[in-house]
Amino acid sequence: MLLVILIYTTYPLTVSTQHNLTPYGTATQSSNYEGSLPINAIKPPISNTFSRTMCSHTGAGLSSKPAWWMFHFSFGSAYITDIQIYYRAGYAYRMDGFKLYATNTSTIPPDGYLCYEDGPGHPSITQTISCNHLGQYVIYYDDTGDGQFGPIIELCYVAITGCQKGMWGPNCTEACSSICVNQHCHPENGSCIWGCDPQRCVNRRCDTNTGACTEGCVTGWVGQYCTCGKCKYVS
Ligand SMILES: *[C@@H]1O[C@H](CO)[C@@H](O)[C@H](O)[C@H]1NC(C)=O
Ligand SMILES: *[C@@H]1O[C@H](CO)[C@@H](O)[C@H](O)[C@H]1NC(C)=O
Ligand SMILES: *[C@@H]1O[C@H](CO)[C@@H](O)[C@H](O)[C@H]1NC(C)=O
Repeated sequence: MLLVILIYTTYPLTVSTQHNLTPYGTATQSSNYEGSLPINAIKPPISNTFSRTMCSHTGAGLSSKPAWWMFHFSFGSAYITDIQIYYRAGYAYRMDGFKLYATNTSTIPPDGYLCYEDGPGHPSITQTISCNHLGQYVIYYDDTGDGQFGPIIELCYVAITGCQKGMWGPNCTEACSSICVNQHCHPENGSCIWGCDPQRCVNRRCDTNTGACTEGCVTGWVGQYCTCGKCKYVS
């Protein structure tokens, strides 16, 4: 009975953050090793088990330095909350020293926000990395590698969660309130990430989390977010 309760209470929390954006875009990498294409990393199965058709694999050799794997959103910018990585089982040493970026360009070395940089010791081959940034690309980057083969990237599965800029909700189907600065909000709850635009609020006061004017709307505007101007408001 206890188990049943736990399942029911945790389920909605996990699904609400699991909108995977990798169906919307393309994957590329620095070089291909024997048909292990970059797209393999965004296709199931969700596992660390390696095969050339299930994982990506960049070319080996010191000339392949640096190695990178990149995902480009087809719709422009996304607010990236988390990036989930399943690396090849038994090869954590190749993952050692990797960096993960959110960027607005495909420049190498990456020019953007460093979501994560692996520290000393071998990393876990399965990781969920928080990024909480806006970007058009996600880049897994490795310029370390051993003295024999240079850096090699073998990604068996990657999921990028978040929403297209301007949208939120479990399936990213809700539009962010127009009172949010740049109509931009957090994918999980619609909060105005960059604050709210208080022009239509009494005393210019609004709540950054909800986007609502805390003391009401100035004359001529109605609605929770004071977004309704010359329209009929039915409460
Ligand atoms: C990408 O561009 C947007 C809009 O200009 C900006 O807010 C964001 O911080 C940029 N992202 C990165 C990773 O530089
Ligand atoms: C999200 O999409 C799934 C699959 O299409 C659907 O079953 C679910 O009801 C949707 N959830 C919401 C909150 O719209
Ligand atoms: C929405 O989520 C963000 C990130 O987790 C958090 O900082 C913010 O406080 C939340 N807003 C509300 C209204 O819960």
